[in-house]
Amino acid sequence: MNQSIKDQLPEKIRRIEKIIDKYLPEEAGPQKTVLRAMNYTVKAGGKRLRPMLMEETYRMFGGNNDNVIEPFMAAIEMIHTYSLIHDDLPALDNDDLRRGMPTAHVKFGEAMAILAGDALLNYAFETASKAFTGASEDIKIAKAFQILCKKPGIYGMIGGQVVDVEEEEKEISFETLLYIHENKTAALIECAMMIGAVLAGAKEEEVKAVEQIASKTGIAFQIEDDILDVESTSEKLGKPAGSDEKNGKNTYVSMKGLTQAKEDARLYTQEALSIFDSLDYKNEFLRQLLLYLVGREK
Ligand code: IPE
Ligand code: IPE
Ligand code: MG
Ligand code: MG
Ligand code: MG
Repeated sequence: MNQSIKDQLPEKIRRIEKIIDKYLPEEAGPQKTVLRAMNYTVKAGGKRLRPMLMEETYRMFGGNNDNVIEPFMAAIEMIHTYSLIHDDLPALDNDDLRRGMPTAHVKFGEAMAILAGDALLNYAFETASKAFTGASEDIKIAKAFQILCKKPGIYGMIGGQVVDVEEEEKEISFETLLYIHENKTAALIECAMMIGAVLAGAKEEEVKAVEQIASKTGIAFQIEDDILDVESTSEKLGKPAGSDEKNGKNTYVSMKGLTQAKEDARLYTQEALSIFDSLDYKNEFLRQLLLYLVGREK
């Protein structure tokens, strides 16, 4: 299924990694340990989904300035990677494997992992700010920058992580579970796609539609992540399977069961696609990518 996209992904990922690499710090200076820890986790691999969604959305709406989109692509992968380093810490999910490698705190110690996460978050903004040109395009870049500040924050990803951690081992409502999924995961997907749209000059109502598409895609993405945590293996995932049960997490699977989770992941994706198809712009690769994410293997 979706063989064509599976064939295209490695080349897309290779290109994105070349872009990210350009913006990573040089591992030199008295603070080089933290720089090594940052680069270690960014370079460990991963699907590069968020920069991919950002760039594909940008191209779909006609964006064509590499000097503007590339710093933002690198920045969102830095923010995502910071979130993974902190998510794996002993105080949070306490996981020792990430992207097929020992987690940052296993390799560099807890203090350096905390600092590497902080550093990646901060360096993401430093990196994105390189997009500013001093020309009229800066109005769009400033708008994109605002989204980059807000969506990963307390009214987005961090908000979701807070409730995810605080409600471990507790009974929660389905509404609360949706808050967790919408924020800890979908907010960053929204961030990626909205920035792509804004930088390309999409109209306000188009950016709103993109936010909806990304929200539904992001919820489906986290449902699938919850499914994989139960059904896959650490070897395949490159991160510990069974982490959610170990931590007493409320997940889509623990609340609704596997069958319903699989059904709902497809439903959310279908909803995302129907909004996607109503846009005046097309990007067949992006459409296939949204579809590919349900039922993915890792
Ligand atoms: C993992 O994200 C964290 C979640 C939000 C589920 P990804 O599954 O995109 O991780 P990488 O980037 O491929 O390692
Ligand atoms: C991840 O949720 C959300 C983040 C903001 C990192 P998970 O805790 O389920 O992510 P994985 O499974 O460890 O990648
Ligand atoms: Mg977690
Ligand atoms: Mg985790
Ligand atoms: Mg998970």
